[in-house]
Amino acid sequence: MTILGIETSCDECAAAIVDDGRIIRSNVIATQIPFHASYNGVVPEIASRKHTEWIDSVVQEALNRAGLEPSEIDAVAATAHPGLLGSLIVGMSFAKAFAWAKNKAFIAVDHILAHLYAAQLCRSVPDYPFLGLLVSGGHSIICRADDFDTVTVLGASIDDAVGEAFDKVAKHYSLGYPGGPAIDKLSHEGSSLAFAFPLPSLHKGEHRYDISYSGLKNAVINQLEQFKRTEDAYSKADIAASFQKTAVAILTRALFRAVEDTNIKVVVAGGGVAANSLLRSTLEGRTDIQCIFPSFELCTDNGAMVAGIAYHYLARGESSPLSASPSARVSSFRRNARPRP
Ligand code: KG4
Ligand code: ZN
Repeated sequence: MTILGIETSCDECAAAIVDDGRIIRSNVIATQIPFHASYNGVVPEIASRKHTEWIDSVVQEALNRAGLEPSEIDAVAATAHPGLLGSLIVGMSFAKAFAWAKNKAFIAVDHILAHLYAAQLCRSVPDYPFLGLLVSGGHSIICRADDFDTVTVLGASIDDAVGEAFDKVAKHYSLGYPGGPAIDKLSHEGSSLAFAFPLPSLHKGEHRYDISYSGLKNAVINQLEQFKRTEDAYSKADIAASFQKTAVAILTRALFRAVEDTNIKVVVAGGGVAANSLLRSTLEGRTDIQCIFPSFELCTDNGAMVAGIAYHYLARGESSPLSASPSARVSSFRRNARPRP
């Protein structure tokens, strides 16, 4: 089954063609980073305008690279939630129009489930259940996956998402945009021991896997105020390395706790922050846990993960009605709840 997957939930205008949920025939990602960089963050109005301008040629390029005509596609999938509403509308409307015009099935996909699926593209992943670590600009979730769409949230950030913390720290210190890759790169030149930023204590009971980033983010930003007051010279690389060390420790401490409690020793990561080099080396350093990461290109937003997961709905005989509408938030993705397409 050959599926066209369209992803426009944020600032990447992406389309891909994937066979049978695994084999990537094309994966086109048109990044809007240069258009948002001067604002140090994604401007929703610019994002949706660029998607509107680009979507047609991005999809055409995905077809060209795969050497396919639109009629040779079996189904069209698009990200339906969560994301920026104006951006979601563009990709989803395009996908629905394509499906209607070519008489193909349409599948609405959840962005977070698609990120969790990304590691399964081009490689085999051990059978379910596994623990999922979904870390992006909008989410920090530790979950248990019993199937591609049966995911129980064990813990999540109670405030900022981890990617958001990277982006905000980078913005305050003018480290570059987007913040995650910039801090990751700069950290290699600094000392992670230079600053001891606070590691919040773990919660108890039902919230024992929840995490928090606002304390760390504020501490790093307050440190900048102190530098300004005292006019002390400081190394941006040391700040980056010290912040990154703590940010990764916050995630891994809660994740390792979940591994111990559930005795599930397979962890599948997804989302933009899964590209982080320290997170990868920390998890890979645990020889008792099998950690599976998507390739770097498949960590951040892409259409291949959308086409990939859509295959499994179709294989089960499920598709979405053309009346399906996008949603900025997914109300069904809650603790102990099963998110639905
Ligand atoms: O999954 P994604 O492309 O979009 C969302 O769904 O949010 O993730 C983007 C986030 C941004 O916050 C970006 O700074 C972060 O992922 N990111 C990283 C790295 N690469 C991207 N964070 C830390 N280290 C990285 N290497
Ligand atoms: Zn994403």
